[in-house]
Amino acid sequence: MKTDFSPQEKAPLSSLDVWEDDLLERYPEPETTAKAKEEFRNYDNPERDTVREFYRLNHTYQTYDFVQQKKADFLKFDRKEMPIWEAFNFLNTLVDDSDPDIELDQLQHLLQTSEAIRADGHPDWFVLTGLLHDMGKVLCLFGEPQWAVVGDTFPVGCKPSDKIVYPEFFEANPDSKDERYNTKYGVYEPNCGLNNVHLSWGHDEYLYHMMKDHMPESALYMMRYHSFYAQHREGAYDHLMDDHDREMFKWVKLFNPYDLYSKAPVPPNVKELKPYYEDLIAKYLPSTIKF
Ligand SMILES: [Fe+2]
Ligand SMILES: [Fe+2]
Repeated sequence: MKTDFSPQEKAPLSSLDVWEDDLLERYPEPETTAKAKEEFRNYDNPERDTVREFYRLNHTYQTYDFVQQKKADFLKFDRKEMPIWEAFNFLNTLVDDSDPDIELDQLQHLLQTSEAIRADGHPDWFVLTGLLHDMGKVLCLFGEPQWAVVGDTFPVGCKPSDKIVYPEFFEANPDSKDERYNTKYGVYEPNCGLNNVHLSWGHDEYLYHMMKDHMPESALYMMRYHSFYAQHREGAYDHLMDDHDREMFKWVKLFNPYDLYSKAPVPPNVKELKPYYEDLIAKYLPSTIKF
């Protein structure tokens, strides 16, 4: 398994947000579909090429073994221990090459997501889920390549669905030539339940394991599967889901628009909001979290 990646291979995108901007083009907010589709057709956009390259790397290197290796390493949580709010500050040290005047920092995206959930009157643990959902992106600060932190997630250990974005890039993934992994079910049983399925490694799975003893199950589903677009948007993996997953995916689907469409031009007032969120964090989480 390849382990040494060049800077270009580690960071094809100018910023992690480029992946999310591309998601917005693929899954535009219903009211803005016409405009977004027009922009989507603009293939001259050089950012589209970096997204393509990003998915090429992601689909090539996210193998079954790669995922096992990342889990064995990161789920030891032996890197850092800090209070949640300090983790937000840490996450905000993720500097990227994009224009700082127009890009919101990581905490602002988290607060816009959580504030949109709060404004709709949802339970407080749902609001907290909005605040925490991308905290796993600290993986980037531990030197992980972008394609092992963000990007649509998909099951490894079985044949990838052609509903996954840029499916042609799976050709270069060694698992596609491995008969243990290249059939419809691969290493899994029909409808075995997603808890028995390994998804490609990234910020969702990492956060799920960090939070699994502290948050309600519905919140954990939203954290763990919010980047699993091939299922929550495309329904491509019904054959691996069990009835409980299907029930819980209502939450994943409910969460997704808050993640994608809550970006507002006015940045949230962090200072004003902090006391409310400090209380909310204290209600559900221990004073420090291990990373
Ligand atoms: Fe995310
Ligand atoms: Fe997000």
